[in-house]
Amino acid sequence: MMKKSILGALALSALLAVGATAPASAAEMKAAGPHASLPCDTCHKGGEMKAPAKETCLTCHESYAAVAKRTEKMNPNPHFSHRGEPDCSDCHSMHAKPRFECNDCHTFDIKMKGE
Ligand code: HEC
Ligand code: HEC
Ligand code: HEC
Ligand code: HEC
Repeated sequence: MMKKSILGALALSALLAVGATAPASAAEMKAAGPHASLPCDTCHKGGEMKAPAKETCLTCHESYAAVAKRTEKMNPNPHFSHRGEPDCSDCHSMHAKPRFECNDCHTFDIKMKGE
């Protein structure tokens, strides 16, 4: 029920956006950087407009080990720590500012792109 009405509202705002100035159009919700051209339901399966679980990110990004390899020169490695394998969206964002969660407790000299 709830989901359906959210979907309806989104579809409506997408229609309005064709006109011109609808504020929260789907186009303005495009995901960040290289994800901008992805269909919304790549991440929002079944119209769930919230951060997807890490499994969704990992369909393309492979595994925590693979992303840890990409940041292996960072100290500490944000993808390999005593925190294990949290959801990517604990730190990364697709429509808003990212947030380096480790610094809730630490003072590492690390900033996320766009933070
Ligand atoms: C449909 C495939 C796909 C999915 C799903 C996906 N990505 Fe990506 N992502 C890419 C591609 C392609 C790139 C660009 C090439 C690269 O850096 O690997 C990229 C790049 C990135 C980058 C580096 C570039 C940047 O913008 O800083 C981050 C961080 C990232 N993705 C995080 C995520 C997170 C978090 C999720 C889940 C919410 C996710 N991705 C889901 C395909 C995907
Ligand atoms: C504890 C915070 C945190 C979590 C959780 C996290 N990342 Fe990252 N990630 C970072 C930081 C910090 C960087 C480096 C700065 C930046 O790119 O914003 C980064 C960079 C990346 C990059 C770009 C690496 C490059 O080549 O420059 C990708 C891709 C990426 N993360 C994907 C993911 C995916 C996929 C997940 C979940 C499986 C994930 N991250 C979980 C903090 C995190
Ligand atoms: C690569 C994955 C990805 C894609 C593609 C994506 N989103 Fe998202 N979406 C997220 C994540 C992660 C969040 C959680 C909040 C954030 O990171 O900004 C989110 C949150 C949202 C929210 C909730 C707003 C909020 O602030 O909590 C809406 C609405 C939304 N997305 C709409 C869209 C629309 C419309 C599209 C297609 C044009 C889209 N998203 C494409 C990952 C994605
Ligand atoms: C909820 C709080 C909390 C969060 C969030 C957290 N840590 Fe920690 N971390 C700790 C505590 C407590 C210790 C043990 C402190 C000590 O005695 O050295 C620790 C120790 C460490 C150490 C070894 C000691 C040091 O400071 O060099 C590293 C490295 C580390 N954390 C990295 C990370 C990374 C990377 C993240 C994010 C992915 C993270 N932590 C998130 C609480 C946290």
